[in-house]
This record gives sequence, structure tokens and C-alpha cells, in this order.
Amino acid sequence: MDIININDNKLYYVGGVVRDELLGVESLDTDFVYEGNAIEFAENITPHPSFAQLSGSLCIQQGARENPIEILQINEPFGTVRVRIGGHEIDIASTREEIYERKGHLPTVTKIGCPLKDDVKRRDFTINSLYKSVATGEIVDFTGGLEDLKNKIIRVLHDESFIDDPTRIIRALKFSVRFGFKLDKHTRKLQEDYLKNINYDMCYKRIKKELIETFNLNSQAAFETFIKDGIYKLVTEKKVSLPRVNIEKLINKILKQVQDNKVQEWNISNIWLIYAGVLGDLSRLPLTKTEQKILDDYNSVGKPKTDFEIYKAFEKVMPETVIIYAILKDEKAALKYIEKLRLIKISLNGKDLQEIGIAPSPKYQEIFDYVLKEKLKNPDLSKNDEIKLARKYFF
Ligand code: CTP
Repeated sequence: MDIININDNKLYYVGGVVRDELLGVESLDTDFVYEGNAIEFAENITPHPSFAQLSGSLCIQQGARENPIEILQINEPFGTVRVRIGGHEIDIASTREEIYERKGHLPTVTKIGCPLKDDVKRRDFTINSLYKSVATGEIVDFTGGLEDLKNKIIRVLHDESFIDDPTRIIRALKFSVRFGFKLDKHTRKLQEDYLKNINYDMCYKRIKKELIETFNLNSQAAFETFIKDGIYKLVTEKKVSLPRVNIEKLINKILKQVQDNKVQEWNISNIWLIYAGVLGDLSRLPLTKTEQKILDDYNSVGKPKTDFEIYKAFEKVMPETVIIYAILKDEKAALKYIEKLRLIKISLNGKDLQEIGIAPSPKYQEIFDYVLKEKLKNPDLSKNDEIKLARKYFF
């Protein structure tokens, strides 16, 4: 955490970074909070003469040479500021108070620059509500976060927490899987109550972000809890049951296959969507075109039986589509494609056909398909063999 050398006793590390340091795990990001107005704090750091020529560049007085600080972005309504310091980009938030005027949506900031003890009230769980003074290293714990960290407990700060921000239900799952923690009994009851009475008017962009972070952990255990505890109901009102296939094992098996065959182009870049795709209905989530295509392609795959049909069904779709098909419809056919058929390609092309005297026409596709069918039966066919087959078919 020692990336910053600012001797101001109002600056604190907060949230994940403090939690992770106490747990001894690596942090994904480093959040800072300034007890007061962080923007003014960043702006008022005295520019150091040696950096004066850099426009917008600031430098803190102490340790100035090592710590040039440059303001990159200011978010006035939230009182946050992004700065570059010592080669790192960091966010510094102002302490603030918030209210949820519209439950399930972004809160409204009601005060910027409040005391730390009021800033803590807007946070999700006790384990994420610890502050550590940058100047002294002292931990400030208003909510019992240290105790909960020790006992591996995820606990909300108040009874309205999930109503205010239902994404916290998915966040709780994410943290429980990442750290092997359990929900405290009362928190679990609040979750159950919320899931029985969901207000679907919520920000699905935020829900999607948490789903991505949770499912990208590629954890069957997380997915099972997601289904069994009914957390999936945040996404769809349709009933979902747990598929027979162990998704984590399947994905790992496929990742290994790809690694062993050294086939680079079969890149699974949306692991989260494989899990989410199993829900069947993601109409509430704001999906990208690619994500939507993965699901649409899945819905258009029929019931391919022969090797040729399987090949044709999956030839042009993304790996995620094939894997969703493996989970929900026909694991055997999909695995056959992934492990074997996918690697077979014909070498014959249009130029070869022209050279043997076949004029370009829709017949070409028929010929390619015929040769492919033969090659699927006998992958060792050489290009010469393919040309012979093309002749045989056409003439
Ligand atoms: N937070 C919150 N409610 C949310 C999201 C965030 O109260 N829905 C607060 C928590 O105090 C959290 C901090 O904002 O610790 C930072 O959020 P984020 O970066 O999403 O999570 P981290 O706790 O830093 O965890 P990660 O390791 O996943 O980044």
C-alpha cells in the first residue's frame, strides 16, 4: 500500500484495500478517502518548482521529487478526484453522506466533507468499512469490521442495505466466494426478505457489473449459491434450476484443451456470460452486441446430430455459445466439436476449383461441404485428396 507519501492525517485508505491487507491477499485496487473535500485537497497541494512547467501537474510539498501529482479527472457531484502520483493512478473520494431517493439506483450525495463516522454509513459491509490512516497506519473501525474479518463474516451495516442497493446481494456472494466467508444470520434473513419482494426498478448496469465480477471467478460453488438461494431472481422472474453439468469443471477442461492444442483463436473471453446465459432470460441486463449475439446464436442452434451438422452449427459462433449449448442441451455434441471437429479444416479453396476447371457458382459451396463431410470422416486427407474428391463430386 506504500505508493503514496502524503503526510496529511485526514487521508485514509478505505474499503477493499484495507480489508485485503488485513487478510493478506492482493488488492484489486486502492481506494482513498479524504476526511473533507478531496478535490480541494488535491488542488491545494503546492506545485513543486521543478514540475511547474508541466501544465496541470502538481507536486506535494513533502517528498515532492518522488511524488509528482497530476489531477486527471474530477467528479464534482460525488466529490471524487482521480490523480496520478508516483506513476500510479488513484482515486481519492471526499467523505460524504448519501441517501437513496430512488431505491436500487445510484444514491444522491447530500453532504461532501462530513466526518469519517458519517461517511461509513453509506458502505456495504463491515469488512469493507475499515479506514487506515495513510499518515499513521492506524485502523479506524466504526462498525466491528475487524471482528467480522477475524470471524469470516459478511454483515450489512443496517436493515435497509439491500433495499437501498440490491447489487450488494451479489457483492456479498462475490466476497463470500473470494474469501471463504459466510453471511451473518441477520444479513441472510434480510437477503431472503428482499428476494421475496424484489423491486425490479433497479440499475441493471450495476447488477451486470457485479455479475461479471462474480461469475468471472469461475466458481461452481458461487453459481450454486446464486441459484439455490434465489439470487438469480434479481435478474429474471422465470424459474431457474441448477443444470446437471458442473460449469466450472467444464470450463476448466475446455481451457486446458485449448491450452494443450495451442489453438489461440478459441478464446473464451466472457466466462461470466456462460454462467449468466444459463439463466435463459437476460433481457433486463444491458448487453453489448457481442454478448447478445452469443445468446441469440445459442437460441438458433437446432439439434445437430451428424458430425457435419455439428460442425456447421458451431463453425461460426463464439466459444461461449458452444459451451452454453454443452451445459443446457447436448454436452456430448458440443464437446465433440470443441475437442475434435473444430480442429478439422479443409484446405481446398475457390482458386483450386477454378484451376481444375470449375467456374465460380453456388456449386462451390456444395463442393466444399462434400469435401468437408469426407474430411470429418478422415481428417488425414491431404490437399491433393481434397482436390480429387472435388473432381469426383463435380465431374
Ligand atoms: N461500496 C458500497 N456499496 C457498493 C459498492 C461499493 O458500499 N455497492 C463501498 C465499499 O466500502 C467498498 C468500496 O465502496 O469497499 C469500494 O468498492 P469496490 O471497489 O467495488 O469494492 P472493494 O471493496 O474495493 O473490493 P474489490 O476488491 O472487489 O475491488
